[in-house]
Amino acid sequence: MSGLLDLLSAKLGAAFAAEGLDVGLGQVRVSDRPDLAQFQCNGAMAAAKAAKENPRAVAGRVKDRIETDPVFAKVELAGPGFINLTLTDEFLEASLNEVADDERLGVAPRDPSSTVLIDFGGPNVAKPLHVGHLRSTIIGDALQRLFRFMGDEVTSDVHLGDWGLQMGQVLYGLEHPDVGGVPVTGIPSLEELEQIYPAVSAASKADEKVLEGCRAITAALQEHAEPHYGLWRKVRAVSVEAIKQGFDALGAQFDEWKGEADAAPFIPAMIDKLKKDAVAQESEGALVVHVKRNDDKSEIPPLILLKSDGAAMYATTDLGTIVDRVRSHDPDLILYVVDQRQHLHFEQVFRAARKGGLSGKAEMEHIGFGTMNGPDGKPFKTREGGVMRLEELIRMATDAASKRLEEAGLAAEYPEAERAGIARQVGLAAVKFADLSNYRMTDYIFDLDRFAAFEGKTGPYLQYAAVRIKSILKRAQEQNRDVKGPVKIGADEERALVLALSGLNEVLQGAYDKRAPHILCDYVYGIAQAFSGFYSACPVVREEESAVRASRLALCRLTLRQLELVLGLLGIEIPERM
Ligand code: ARG
Repeated sequence: MSGLLDLLSAKLGAAFAAEGLDVGLGQVRVSDRPDLAQFQCNGAMAAAKAAKENPRAVAGRVKDRIETDPVFAKVELAGPGFINLTLTDEFLEASLNEVADDERLGVAPRDPSSTVLIDFGGPNVAKPLHVGHLRSTIIGDALQRLFRFMGDEVTSDVHLGDWGLQMGQVLYGLEHPDVGGVPVTGIPSLEELEQIYPAVSAASKADEKVLEGCRAITAALQEHAEPHYGLWRKVRAVSVEAIKQGFDALGAQFDEWKGEADAAPFIPAMIDKLKKDAVAQESEGALVVHVKRNDDKSEIPPLILLKSDGAAMYATTDLGTIVDRVRSHDPDLILYVVDQRQHLHFEQVFRAARKGGLSGKAEMEHIGFGTMNGPDGKPFKTREGGVMRLEELIRMATDAASKRLEEAGLAAEYPEAERAGIARQVGLAAVKFADLSNYRMTDYIFDLDRFAAFEGKTGPYLQYAAVRIKSILKRAQEQNRDVKGPVKIGADEERALVLALSGLNEVLQGAYDKRAPHILCDYVYGIAQAFSGFYSACPVVREEESAVRASRLALCRLTLRQLELVLGLLGIEIPERM
């Protein structure tokens, strides 16, 4: 099954082809002027340019060819050569009823499907999560859900920062309580660890001797020398436990809990190979891979594999991780959902991996994102100036949601536990939707009051829209007024809703191609608004005419299914009632 736009594009494409022009010119999209037409095709302009012809003449010939097709109620030329299209209600109804009858709602799985590895989350052991990890987790989770739904074989990996100097510093602090600042007996707690890292990090900047000590421990750790290695395992376990809890609370699941340390065993052989193939070269005592190309617009420095003291770098572990992933999954695609500020790092890693033949058949893509800022326009911090803990963020969001629910008079008479659960779902929806609804590269300002509002383009508004439909359907059932039947368009608001609900397939394909969850957010907001217009104009349960009531109930059901599907892909849960 293909979507409405694909079908129309195929029809227009055939008409262009019959004129000896490129099929691709037939691309149809939703009209910019819904007052004039439902859809439009702009291909005649490009065609005319290529053929050095008048675009209106080309558009006219295409129009003549498609006009007789019974799916079109109206085909009109406008402006310099736009082809405006309006469909017959019969055709719109038939195509939407087909969507309603399909368990995948008319969304075709990718063919062929791909094996995809998604690297997201990326928290660091013994260091607090920051907003970059939060965004990575929210965006990465939405992408893994979308890619799975589209039929790909997806493995998600949290890729912990659990190796290298940062770990040496934490161990140094534990082994030297005078520098770490926290005397620890037994297994350190996460709070203790999170105090130690900044203390030692500051001390290593101030005191060369401390830095030397940290480096020595890092090197010993990499050799699995005790007591460092045993201590490291404890530290890692404590951190992972806490991180897992936080990500669980957020609703993000990972298939693999690997980290930088897991890449270590692959590094020596990889370096040998890169040396043997002359991909890696000595440079000022370091071992580097030159990755710049002649067509680079900006300077791409060499990737440093080993520093002059022999220490492996962040890029080295990322290359080792690629070796591990190719060996264990042989993916077609690896996505790295990481802050855009690491773009150069990934460009270097991808180039080196390709140059060294490490990446198998995998395409590698950096899925960058902007920052979540505070009201001061700087990366979001707590009022005390620290990084926001995940539990703290979820608590704040839940509180904001509680307040909004109360203001709106929602869930007021429900049992306390249920109300708390709803507030939590609404709070999470507020945070996630706000994050996902911006194009991922743009920065945005964290503003819980706005995110948690029940009006406007917010998560809570959409949850409420879905819950309202659930209650309409329940009422129909309770009053024995539930009837089944196909969608038939009567009112303009019904047609507008049918049109809105017809775009799902293309929207999901588009969000997949662009790795852009905001496209899903725009879509659900559009259908919720169209539903709201429909519901204020058209009685549903009260409608006396049985066939009309059946059609309207079918529209309610289909809107709800689409909201459930797409919000689910965004990682947003819908409460049973509100
Ligand atoms: N731990 C890193 C950080 O906090 C993010 C890891 C991203 N993934 C990767 N494969 N490098 O910045």
